Amino acid sequence: MRTMLDHLNIKLPVWNAGMGGGMAGPALVAAVCEAGGLGVLGAGSAPGHLVSAWLEQTRALTSRPFGANIILPMSDGSDIEACFNARVPVLVLFWGDAQPYVKDAHKRDMFVVAQCGGPEDAVAAADAGVDAVIMQGVEAGGHVKAVAPLAETLRATVKVLGPVPVIAAGGIADGAAIADVLAAGAQAASLGTRFVASVEADAFQDYKQRIVKAIADDTVMTTLFDIGWPNANHRVIRNTTYERWEAAGKPASGERPGEKQDIGELALGEHRVLLQRYCVIPPLSGFDGDLESMPLYAGHSVDGIHDIAPAADIIARLHDELRRAVN
Ligand SMILES: Cc1cc2nc3c(=O)[nH]c(=O)nc-3n(C[C@H](O)[C@H](O)[C@H](O)COP(=O)(O)O)c2cc1C
Repeated sequence: MRTMLDHLNIKLPVWNAGMGGGMAGPALVAAVCEAGGLGVLGAGSAPGHLVSAWLEQTRALTSRPFGANIILPMSDGSDIEACFNARVPVLVLFWGDAQPYVKDAHKRDMFVVAQCGGPEDAVAAADAGVDAVIMQGVEAGGHVKAVAPLAETLRATVKVLGPVPVIAAGGIADGAAIADVLAAGAQAASLGTRFVASVEADAFQDYKQRIVKAIADDTVMTTLFDIGWPNANHRVIRNTTYERWEAAGKPASGERPGEKQDIGELALGEHRVLLQRYCVIPPLSGFDGDLESMPLYAGHSVDGIHDIAPAADIIARLHDELRRAVN
């Protein structure tokens, strides 16, 4: 049977999650592709001209197929337009209705994927015409649409989706966990946090270190970091912002400790963006400020992350562990 990996011409069942603001930027995407996986650009929340530049840089670094991720509630349309213009081979949409984009993407021979939070969500995406779904479990880092553990939601989704390929995401950091999701019917795994702690991720170095040091119990699901994307669950490492808010009795947005306080800035090209406490933007490499106040997105996968390594080494290790787990 021709699998999704055959169709996309990808050797290994490993994708990096397209982590927004370019955290999964051209260098990480190309490294993952060159190592045999599917690299996915984190285009979320970036303007179209920047996405176009990232796509060009990615194409200059690899001739392999790759993807780009769009966060629909944060999109002004220009990021999707950039992906259409560049005919990105794989378009990954998150947190919204994929239907308005499917036809135009298919006209350009693009493979459309929706990251979903549960079986019902996945069925709606399949009905809208997507080519595959990423099923997310509640263990995931970053923004989390899921409400159930991955093992549970994955099995239910594979069962109801039939032939539509499923990619699993959430809490995966080693090849044995990839073997588990493949055994449950997934055709690939999408890893976020593992790739934040890669040399190529465009994340602030001390944030990568925080991921290496953290354990799953240090992470928490919250809607706290809501400036820029309100009322959306996300999993982060507990930090001073979280603890001060908790100690204050978890007040509502607008009444929390240190609202409107600047906690750092971010260099984005020639621009500098001031960051307020409770802002959704993570510490990218150009961050300068108080790291412990920032949203430190991370999944339960931190338990299996013990180093910051080049993406090629991470993939080689995952592949080796996967081979051993299935033999
Ligand atoms: C730092 C970070 C940023 C993320 N940004 C995005 C994003 O822009 N778009 C998206 O669809 N998912 C995003 N996610 C969620 C991932 O797609 C995926 O569900 C999650 O990383 C899987 O869990 P894991 O981190 O344990 O591997 C992000 C995750 C992390 C850790």
